[in-house]
Amino acid sequence: GRETKIASDLLAHYDVHARQLPWRAPPGANAADPYRVWLSEVMLQQTTVAAVGPYFDKFTRRWPAVADLAAAPDVDLMAAWAGLGYYARARNLLACARAVVRDHGGRFPDTEEGLRALPGVGAYTAAAVAAIAFGRRAVVVDANVERVVARLFAIDTPLPAARPAIRAAADRITPDARAGDFAQAMMDLGATICTPRSPACAICPLRQDCAAFATADPAAFPVKAAK
Ligand code: ADE
Repeated sequence: GRETKIASDLLAHYDVHARQLPWRAPPGANAADPYRVWLSEVMLQQTTVAAVGPYFDKFTRRWPAVADLAAAPDVDLMAAWAGLGYYARARNLLACARAVVRDHGGRFPDTEEGLRALPGVGAYTAAAVAAIAFGRRAVVVDANVERVVARLFAIDTPLPAARPAIRAAADRITPDARAGDFAQAMMDLGATICTPRSPACAICPLRQDCAAFATADPAAFPVKAAK
């Protein structure tokens, strides 16, 4: 059906065009390191991929595994975080690393539910880590994915009321296999092609699957609430 075609078209494109990011395993590889996936997802909340890169390299060189981070003095972590902003994230990072070591023998839980119970791990991060690091089928929706889905289905309810419909549509197109690659492919599409202002529909692998592309103004989705 249409849902299956969206996932297979997107994954075929991802196999060729995936951005090579330091926390990613190569496309199709079994799994990335949960510690690196978790660390990157926390850093990427409110910070761009470009800005995160050098911090991710610095952190993983200095603290290669979650146990190394858990053993770091608070002041060292806070100093290394300086510049990333939102310092509550850094405090949560340390609390989470220590909980993984203390309560889970240094291994991240491998389910959304288990991850969600860790300090500072919200629904988005739990889904992202479960899918990307553990290959679980999880529905991963950030702002980029929200925009892509709203366009694919030309969802014309204004945000934020559209969120449940967007989430339900994201669930329908998430494949059972390669959910982590699928999630990252959706993020890449939103960051590089299906951009907020002038989306590059001419080079989009989902053009034929996209209800917004069939309209006069694909960029009109998602619809913003009237002010
Ligand atoms: N933004 C948040 N998580 C990401 C990921 N895994 N890849 C690319 N962009 C992201």
